[in-house]
Amino acid sequence: MVAAPIIDSDICKAHTLPSRYYTEESLFSDILSRLSNSFHFAAHVSQLNENSIIPLPQLENILGEALILTKDEQIRCLSNVCTHRGMLIATKPCDLKSLKCGYHGRTFGLDGCMRNMPEFTDVENFPTDSDNLREFNIKKWNGIIFLGGEQFYDAVINEMQNRIGWMNIESFEYDESRHRSYDINANWALYVDNYLEGFHIPFVHGDLHSVLDYDSYSTELFEGGVLQIGIANEGEACFDLPESSPDFGKKIAAYYYWIYPGLMLNFYPWGLSVNVVSPISVDRTRIVYHGFVGEKSMLGKGAGGDLDKVEAEDQEIVEATQRGVSSKSYERGRYSPSKEKGVHHFHRILTNSSDNDF
Ligand code: FES
Ligand SMILES: [Fe+2]
Repeated sequence: MVAAPIIDSDICKAHTLPSRYYTEESLFSDILSRLSNSFHFAAHVSQLNENSIIPLPQLENILGEALILTKDEQIRCLSNVCTHRGMLIATKPCDLKSLKCGYHGRTFGLDGCMRNMPEFTDVENFPTDSDNLREFNIKKWNGIIFLGGEQFYDAVINEMQNRIGWMNIESFEYDESRHRSYDINANWALYVDNYLEGFHIPFVHGDLHSVLDYDSYSTELFEGGVLQIGIANEGEACFDLPESSPDFGKKIAAYYYWIYPGLMLNFYPWGLSVNVVSPISVDRTRIVYHGFVGEKSMLGKGAGGDLDKVEAEDQEIVEATQRGVSSKSYERGRYSPSKEKGVHHFHRILTNSSDNDF
């Protein structure tokens, strides 16, 4: 007999994710070990100048690798681990023509090839290929660089290409002033749950509620992700959509893409806000924001106007929910079929219940 799925495919019958998923160490580690099959945000091309080096610490515990992106005539992803005795090479972004390990001075080109090592003239059979930094495959779509596994990649990229392929994301410019990093006291999946529904907007986000048409807020599911669309209230900032857009004629304030497991690509008329949800431990999560601006005149307006305030409101809720789901008396709840299908979809993917749905 086939065991019943943890999350029923029928949202009207389903119960939400059991609380142990947010609180048990062993489940957390088990899920974390599976996340390397997924693809993850690494950077946008505008973050890399010629001779740039960017460490990617947010991917370290997900992919099990300390990595850097480098750019000379091309962009590469390399191991950030010195091939001598394992020291991390770059700890912060920098612009240099070569990489130098701070421990004993081994140097590498931005292509990962070892160039020089002091005090090694007598070492036999040195250097060999294993003294070079290992290179990893990157994937690039519209100026966004991804790393990791193949799971859901084609389906997600197809979906975004069809919907917002008209947007010249590659031309957006990195805006360092929009970078944020928050460590919150909650499981990563609770943060994702909260992101995946607009149900809480009138209760939690008063200002955001005033610029969005709540009744027109929509949620669409696709393989490996969810798209939520915020429609602007009369007179509020919205996209100037080309006729080629499937949404031509609508007053769209924001496209909120969530991609499994923890990537959020939020497109506003001013550009793109990327949120990376990085699990630290079962009850601690790092949220990193990167901003890429396409249309300066639209900054500060509409649904993407004050992201710091919305983030603070969400974090307060999510941290309080972590305390709630840790209570012995709470086990799981039910879903609103009209407002929580994104959360249901995420829970189905997370518990491997959705394997045959698409
Ligand atoms: S660990 Fe890098 S040079 Fe020794
Ligand atoms: Fe929110």
